[in-house]
Amino acid sequence: TAIERELIEKIKELKEKKGYTILGHNYVISELQDLSDITGDSLQLARLATEIENDKILFLGVDFMAETLKILNPSKKIIVPTKGSTCPMANSLTPEIIKSFKEKYPNAPVVLYVNSTAECKALADYTCTSANAVEIVSKIDSDTILFGPDKNLGSYVAEKTGKKIIPIPGETGYCYVHNRFSVEDVRKAKEKYPNAKIIVHPESSKEVRDLCEYIGSTGQMMKFPKEDETEEFIIGTEIGMIHKLPKTFKDKKFYPLKELGICNNMKKNNLKNVYEALLNEENEINLPEEIIEKAKIPIMNMFKLME
Ligand code: 13P
Ligand code: SF4
Repeated sequence: TAIERELIEKIKELKEKKGYTILGHNYVISELQDLSDITGDSLQLARLATEIENDKILFLGVDFMAETLKILNPSKKIIVPTKGSTCPMANSLTPEIIKSFKEKYPNAPVVLYVNSTAECKALADYTCTSANAVEIVSKIDSDTILFGPDKNLGSYVAEKTGKKIIPIPGETGYCYVHNRFSVEDVRKAKEKYPNAKIIVHPESSKEVRDLCEYIGSTGQMMKFPKEDETEEFIIGTEIGMIHKLPKTFKDKKFYPLKELGICNNMKKNNLKNVYEALLNEENEINLPEEIIEKAKIPIMNMFKLME
């Protein structure tokens, strides 16, 4: 609409005038992906965070990702369009839960998915993302791992590494967007698009993963169609990827596994609040110094294992 076009122009002007770099996750609405200097998956965004020179960043995604940016760039000003964009899966784990599991399994390293709060990261030995969880866990010198908060990613890692994965918090740790995909959804999608390959995120259940041709993070999903000659793909992740994939692979077709694959919190970022955030330079991410110092350790341990 005309109003949206006007907002987009105003955002571009303000971004230039105030000198912000905009980083966006692959799940934000297409207009915001287009306004971002860089879009990526959680690992790509965390890595980039260590390389950005600009000290003013507007982050579009959910709060645990913005916190990771802050942990890696404590002296930079990091703002978000809304403080209300949170991840229910990240919030399912608390420092108290981690401490109680640590008491029970004192020798098991704690590996936390980056989808976790900064307070929880401060108690972890390593972080991982969906792109490197298998690699990180396989490189850790222990056969038993406390892993959370995603029980589905945990079961995927257990399957691939053969290690004993103890899920923390347990049954309540999952992403509602991906956990919602069912075997029935896969069956229906395959019936509708018999020539398509199915790609899902590892946050999906084992029953669903077992029926699919490729499992990967959103960043890995961006690479798979290039390596595979198939022309049609069914995508089992948040709907934001259905914008990014066809833009990159113009001669291939992409269908959502389910129309309802929407992360409400990612969608809280919109043109209006992005404009306001740049105008007022508000909603700054701040974390206690002690949390930043402690949470940085498992993130750096992840980077070290990947070298
Ligand atoms: P990616 O690391 O694949 O981008 O995943 C982030 C996320 O929140 C998935 O739900
Ligand atoms: Fe959290 Fe799921 Fe949204 Fe990712 S898609 S931010 S895991 S709720």
